[in-house]
Amino acid sequence: MNHMNIACIGTGFVGVVTAGVFAKLGNQIVGLDIDEAKVASLKLGIVPFYEPGLQELLLETQKSGNLTFTTDYSIAISSADIVMIMVGTPSSADGQADLKYVFAASESLAPHLKEGAIVIIKSTVPPGTNAKVRAIIAGKTNVKFEMASVPEFLKEGTAVEDTLHPDRAVIGVESDRARDILVDLHKPLTSNVVIMRPESAQMCKYAANNYLATRITFINQIADLCEQNGADVQEVIKGIGQDKRIGSHYWYPGLGYGGSCFPKDVKEIAAYAHAVGESESMFIKIDDLNEKRIPKLMARYDQLVGGFAGKTVAILGLSFKKNTNDTRVAPSLQVIPWLIDRGAKVVATDPKAISDIKSLLPDTVTYVDDAYTAISGANVTMLLVEWDEYQHLDLTKMASSMLAPKYFFDTRNQYDPDSVSQAGLQYKGIGR
Ligand code: UGA
Repeated sequence: MNHMNIACIGTGFVGVVTAGVFAKLGNQIVGLDIDEAKVASLKLGIVPFYEPGLQELLLETQKSGNLTFTTDYSIAISSADIVMIMVGTPSSADGQADLKYVFAASESLAPHLKEGAIVIIKSTVPPGTNAKVRAIIAGKTNVKFEMASVPEFLKEGTAVEDTLHPDRAVIGVESDRARDILVDLHKPLTSNVVIMRPESAQMCKYAANNYLATRITFINQIADLCEQNGADVQEVIKGIGQDKRIGSHYWYPGLGYGGSCFPKDVKEIAAYAHAVGESESMFIKIDDLNEKRIPKLMARYDQLVGGFAGKTVAILGLSFKKNTNDTRVAPSLQVIPWLIDRGAKVVATDPKAISDIKSLLPDTVTYVDDAYTAISGANVTMLLVEWDEYQHLDLTKMASSMLAPKYFFDTRNQYDPDSVSQAGLQYKGIGR
């Protein structure tokens, strides 16, 4: 493989991980961000979020000289064969992706572009964005360049691993030349490269995330029905998972999907469908069901415990999922205010996210360093995130330190209901 000069614009989650991984493969990477403080800390290998293996990757690739960071577009772009746009695309008021940062980056990079450069959009954007970006760049340069679309499928918590070993690379291109260059670039990561037009690549990103969000919503609906008839959703999952068309992965019923991607991408595809005249989109319903999921379950828990007023609730897990300190659309942000509004006292813990979440929750929450301290004296324990630390709790120890009614709400179905009951706790999972 020929090593390439690559400019990575945007040092958010996807930008930093992508820059580190392509640098590790021997490419010459310049990471660019307009935020000077961010660039200064990245130069020291300090990552503003917790992601396993990322700090080591950034230190290693900067030390080898393959990765540098700058705030200067001329430094980042002028020798780049490939420019990857990985800036944020927040949701705008109508629910569609706001592309202002993508457009601003395009304007800024254009005057420095090298003849023949390939500009890749990796940010999640609606199909048709490439033409708009092409027009912006063409308005500011006379060099020939190509546009491409290579969506990112990494997951937080396993981002480095996912990027180093993706299931596939989806590459949207308009020429054989761009195809050959980008296949070559991705070859060390995967031989499973799927080539298509850029619009299809962008739809792949929306389709994948919306399928997964729909799948989560689906299993949550099945779980709710199981509660009505004595079935155990975990047994149902085993049964349906053997069907090769369905598969047994990524079936964890719970409090609904959160994080920075699914809630946003479902809202975006729903808004996009509406904007292009597809007003009967199922994604509107998926979004609605997910929004209502936590209040619905909390009402059920409230009944079970005979009202939360005056009860102490231990909350295990504050991030949106395990192995990240990201708290965007985390279940804790809905669950804890709900409990406090109803007069409960909340004692919360998380291995990584306490400092991130403090300013987002009521001041009355007590934070402690470990699960057993949180649980001690609690009437109810709620497992919100299945961090490794919370997967094998000593149930007898829990039971002896909790106070009546000693409810254990296992919202991730991590524990065997019988073992929990035998230890002297009242168990309630999801759909069982
Ligand atoms: C998701 C996708 O999985 C990635 O492929 C994609 O690249 C990324 O969004 C993105 O668009 O950038 P991520 O948000 O990091 O990745 O997290 P996931 O592990 O997929 O989980 C998303 C949410 O779904 C979490 O709240 C998780 O708890 C929930 N979930 C996941 C379930 O409730 N059940 C499951 O079976 C799986």
